[in-house]
Amino acid sequence: MELLATTIRGLESIAIEEIEDLRGEKACFEHEGMVRLSGREEDVFKLNYLSKTLHRVLILLSSFKVRSLEDVYRRCKEIDFSCYLNSSQKFAVRAKRTGAHGFTSMDLESEIGQAIVDSFQEEGSRIEVDLENPDVYIRSELRGEEVWVAIDTTGGESLHKRGYRSYEHPAPLKPTIAHCLVRLSEWEEDETLLDPMCGSGTICIEAWHWKNEVPNWFRDDYAFWRLPFLDREKFRDLKEKYDSRARSRSLPVRGCDVSEKHVRGAKRNITSAGADIQISTSNATEVSLDANKIVTNPPYGIRIGSKRKVKNLYEDFASNLADYQWDRAVILTGRPDYMPKEGLEERIDFHYGNLPSSILIF
Ligand SMILES: C[S@@+](CC[C@H](N)C(=O)[O-])C[C@H]1O[C@@H](n2cnc3c(N)ncnc32)[C@H](O)[C@@H]1O
Repeated sequence: MELLATTIRGLESIAIEEIEDLRGEKACFEHEGMVRLSGREEDVFKLNYLSKTLHRVLILLSSFKVRSLEDVYRRCKEIDFSCYLNSSQKFAVRAKRTGAHGFTSMDLESEIGQAIVDSFQEEGSRIEVDLENPDVYIRSELRGEEVWVAIDTTGGESLHKRGYRSYEHPAPLKPTIAHCLVRLSEWEEDETLLDPMCGSGTICIEAWHWKNEVPNWFRDDYAFWRLPFLDREKFRDLKEKYDSRARSRSLPVRGCDVSEKHVRGAKRNITSAGADIQISTSNATEVSLDANKIVTNPPYGIRIGSKRKVKNLYEDFASNLADYQWDRAVILTGRPDYMPKEGLEERIDFHYGNLPSSILIF
């Protein structure tokens, strides 16, 4: 089967690397925020349950060129949806569109939805749409004239919603991005990893989960359990196998934050994530940065903190960094110009939501 997987726009190569680690075969870049792979049924489970960089895993049903909504309807009618959905299930279509078209994304959704309803009706059965709480999501994207239609094996909530956050930081980092930062640091489990501005602890938790092989078991819903054409028995066996691999070894991961409130929040999140990580209240501009890997996400100065204060923070943090002999520092920032250029090995620019962001690797 052909699988499409969505990930962070601009960080697709890290998702490709992770997919290769998980299944021994490479995926390829499809377009911004999406990779593609030829997979087996078990890859649907593996990628949803083990991947830390992906947002959704989709099974491609069809891709084609269209010029009008009529083309969309006609081509979707050619897909045998009864192979993928039961008529007792409720479905919703979610579609995106980029380019100039004489119709909206909602028009696209309702055209695909109508094609599905009509296909079932022609076979003598009835299938219902439920836009709020469907059993199955059909996803589609139109880019220029190219459209793909896929069935979502992940569900309503993206995989970045890990399910372990009990404390919500005002500027939390997406766990999928946190995982990418840890990968970019080339951290090995016998090395010390420090996040000196850890907020609610996401980077530390993602690092600890990764090397302890903790699957995405804090989420309570995955759409693949409801897809009748997938072998759920096989998936239950795989779940048992991967659950038994998870460990809770103590690892040299530490975090600190200047705010006592966030430190308390990070500790709560660490407990709900089943992790064991030391977090303390300290100032990143003064604390010892004696660690092999420094991975952090300082304030952007947009959501929290004023511009001048944030600039001073970056300068003082950079001068503290310069006093230590770490191997690699990976810094996600919306203010790359506030960090010194000396020692910069790589800069990856991408958009975090609407915010232009950079990963600086020293
Ligand atoms: C963008 S947030 C980090 C969010 C975090 N990655 C998460 O997922 O929750 C930046 C954090 O830096 C902390 N911070 C600001 N100035 C600091 C300083 N001088 N020392 C340590 N932490 C600081 C803030 O309290 C805030 O929690």
